[in-house]
Amino acid sequence: MAKAATQFACTDCGYSAGRWFGKCPSCGEFGTLVEEASGQAKSAAAAKPTLRLIDVKAEESERIPTGISELDRVLGGGLVPASLVLVGGEPGVGKSTLLLSALAAMSTERRALLVTGEESVAQVKLRAARLGGAGQVEILAETELETVCATLEQERPAVCVIDSVQTLYSSELGSAPGSVGQVREAAARLLRVAKQAGVATILVGHVTKDGAVAGPRVLEHLVDCVLQFEGDRYHEHRVLRASKNRFGSTNELAVLEMTGTGLVGVPEPSELFGRTVEGEIGAAVACALEGSRPLLLEIQALVASTDLAMPRRVGTGVDPKRLAMIVAVLSRHAGIALGQADVFVNVAGGVRIDEPGADLAIGLAIASAARGAPVKPHIAAFGEIALTGRLRPATQAERRLEECAKLGLEAAVAPKGTAGRGKLRILEAESLREAAKAGIDAERADGG
Ligand SMILES: Nc1ncnc2c1ncn2[C@@H]1O[C@H](COP(=O)(O)OP(=O)(O)OP(=O)(O)O)[C@@H](O)[C@H]1O
Ligand SMILES: [Mg+2]
Repeated sequence: MAKAATQFACTDCGYSAGRWFGKCPSCGEFGTLVEEASGQAKSAAAAKPTLRLIDVKAEESERIPTGISELDRVLGGGLVPASLVLVGGEPGVGKSTLLLSALAAMSTERRALLVTGEESVAQVKLRAARLGGAGQVEILAETELETVCATLEQERPAVCVIDSVQTLYSSELGSAPGSVGQVREAAARLLRVAKQAGVATILVGHVTKDGAVAGPRVLEHLVDCVLQFEGDRYHEHRVLRASKNRFGSTNELAVLEMTGTGLVGVPEPSELFGRTVEGEIGAAVACALEGSRPLLLEIQALVASTDLAMPRRVGTGVDPKRLAMIVAVLSRHAGIALGQADVFVNVAGGVRIDEPGADLAIGLAIASAARGAPVKPHIAAFGEIALTGRLRPATQAERRLEECAKLGLEAAVAPKGTAGRGKLRILEAESLREAAKAGIDAERADGG
């Protein structure tokens, strides 16, 4: 009989080979190849009848409100029963806090279970006391995967939080807890239990240094929804966003504030992040669109001359490639030479923006810093910058203008063709050069 061939598969990209490599030849990651038991080809399996969709009976199951409206918004209107949600975030951002508050709210109507592998039952109790009690929440301190799955199958709570998926281990697998194989196995098995026993399961996941959920990439494919919890420990404000959602829109965003009694939603984030100090050089207000929600954000820029052969372009909260592009367009098409200058850009409040509609405000902030003249007071800007220096219309301009008007702004710098709204004036611009002219108060230049 032929020897069963052993296969080695990359847990990141799925590449498989007949021998082991330290570095995956396909994606270049180190140490991601693991041995796969290649099951012997099964003898003929029995066929199963197929169904037509018209014959499928699906009860429209109602979503479970989590009791935290900001979390509901990011989930797309509440937790879908029997779904699997992954919540990732840096240590200490408040994952356990947020989920315990949600469990406490949900436990008043249905059974809610917390499986804690990281903290003791007493520690959870202390946190619960700080959050104002969570008496009805059931708790299980366990790290063995088989026990957790068996408990879920028997108890069948409506909601279960696993804190965290990295602490679960299965003794059937030889590898250490938290290793790629263990995490993948835990998630796959919990997925099966979630669907079969009808438990809406929330997995807490650790993140790696560059912000991705630790463990195999397959984890993100497996689950129904991936939520990222951002913001740093040193700021009170945290941003929660969905990077994948099978039951709702992604890039929906929620802003929460860490207080002594837990995380509370911030209903008007624009009010918080979108205020600039009048006459300040290098600050502009962007009207970015995050999911269905327009958000005003202060963008700050600093341009400082440098002797470095390769001047620095450092962005916090903005994509470095986009920043480099905007700097290049400013130099080439708007007559703002930045070749001998370091450029730093920062988005207020530790928020990250990936939307191209925020380009124009970034450009304006840099132009203002370079010229030494402030952006005109009480205005916001939005629009995408093309490589040719032209401004491209941003999507859903109306929603953005509404938000600007709501915050009491007077005008908005926007690409040509944007229709005005109410009292809000539109400072139309066809190119970045025109926008800089319209938006920057050249009379108040500091002469520098
Ligand atoms: N008494 C308190 N008052 C205000 N904030 C507090 C208090 N106690 C804890 N915090 C906040 O809660 C945060 C810790 O939250 P939590 O334990 O939920 O984080 P986590 O994301 O679960 O972290 P880990 O990944 O380590 O489990 C701290 O960073 C701190 O900001
Ligand atoms: Mg925790």
